[in-house]
Amino acid sequence: MTSIDQRLREALSQVIYPDFSLDLLSMGVVKEASLQEGLARIILRPIAAPQEKLDLLKSQIEKTLLTLGQVERVSIEWPTANRPPNQPVRIDRVGKTIAVGSCKGGVGKSTLTVNLARCLQAMGKNAGLLDLDIYGPSLPAILNIKQARVNADSEGRIIPLVLPDGLKALSIGFMTAPEQALVWRGPMLIKLVRQLLHKTAWHGLDFLLLDLPPGTGDVQMSLLRHIILDGVIIVSTPQEAALDDTVRGINMFQRSQVPIIGLVENMSYFICPSCQSAHYIFGRDTVEPLARRMNLNFLGQIPLNPALQQLDRQAKDYAEITKPYDELARKLLTV
Ligand SMILES: Nc1ncnc2c1ncn2[C@@H]1O[C@H](COP(=O)(O)OP(=O)(O)OP(=O)(O)O)[C@@H](O)[C@H]1O
Ligand SMILES: [Mg+2]
Repeated sequence: MTSIDQRLREALSQVIYPDFSLDLLSMGVVKEASLQEGLARIILRPIAAPQEKLDLLKSQIEKTLLTLGQVERVSIEWPTANRPPNQPVRIDRVGKTIAVGSCKGGVGKSTLTVNLARCLQAMGKNAGLLDLDIYGPSLPAILNIKQARVNADSEGRIIPLVLPDGLKALSIGFMTAPEQALVWRGPMLIKLVRQLLHKTAWHGLDFLLLDLPPGTGDVQMSLLRHIILDGVIIVSTPQEAALDDTVRGINMFQRSQVPIIGLVENMSYFICPSCQSAHYIFGRDTVEPLARRMNLNFLGQIPLNPALQQLDRQAKDYAEITKPYDELARKLLTV
């Protein structure tokens, strides 16, 4: 629980957490703050940040508190983070955790993840979305809520956003300013990912969908090491050139013994608005045969549809446009 002396509260809410657009209190970083006989004693929670950022933060806290007349000295205690669990664990209070991945960038992972989560929510499930693309978060733009910001609860856990349909969503983009490029690498990035995975107050979900960045980098490795996944959906586009990347992605998950729910082919064909016939612009019959060769399920095709790029939930043909996602989401009910 948090206990913060009223006299220190306002000053602490002016200190911005390094690299983020949120202050220390909103980030849930302050565990205790007391003031006695001129000594301000601040106890922080363990957080992920490079050492130079921590030093900067400490000096900012000191400087800000010393401007208060009653504060003569500041003591800051910063417990070290718990060691990561050696064995992967389940995310607290989440039924099924499903990742959407592919090695190749721009194949439609994020669009698929968001639409699957919305469909599951519309089917009466409690669904959540976690954007793990730390360097290129796309959830704020896809959901059209770039300005939204999250807060922490009294235990220091991040409270995800709750969208009008009840869907819960969390992205690093709800914690940083849009123009802010997060430069954390290696171990710091891994700590940050662990915090998003383990320190978010989902409060009970049937499904949590994880939107992965492209590649086989630190985020994927951290995820596979720390979290028990119920399965992964691999997205590919039909180009022959995309298939090598798709196979690399499959291999990574298979090596970690994560069940592969199946392959989805995105941007499969374009229905010409004039002649109504399907045009297979990027190639035909590539992903399904690959799935067969690798003994994996083929989950289905999603057409190339420009309406998906700026999807308006109020649009008359919303149900029609999102029908392919709805069919895929139904297949997740039995995972
Ligand atoms: N079926 C589709 N039809 C038309 N446009 C699509 C389709 N799927 C995705 N897109 C568009 O393609 C672009 C890339 O999609 P998205 O961001 O979902 O890909 P991604 O795999 O998550 O990319 P990254 O690897 O950068 O995370 C976006 O502009 C998106 O709106
Ligand atoms: Mg993406």
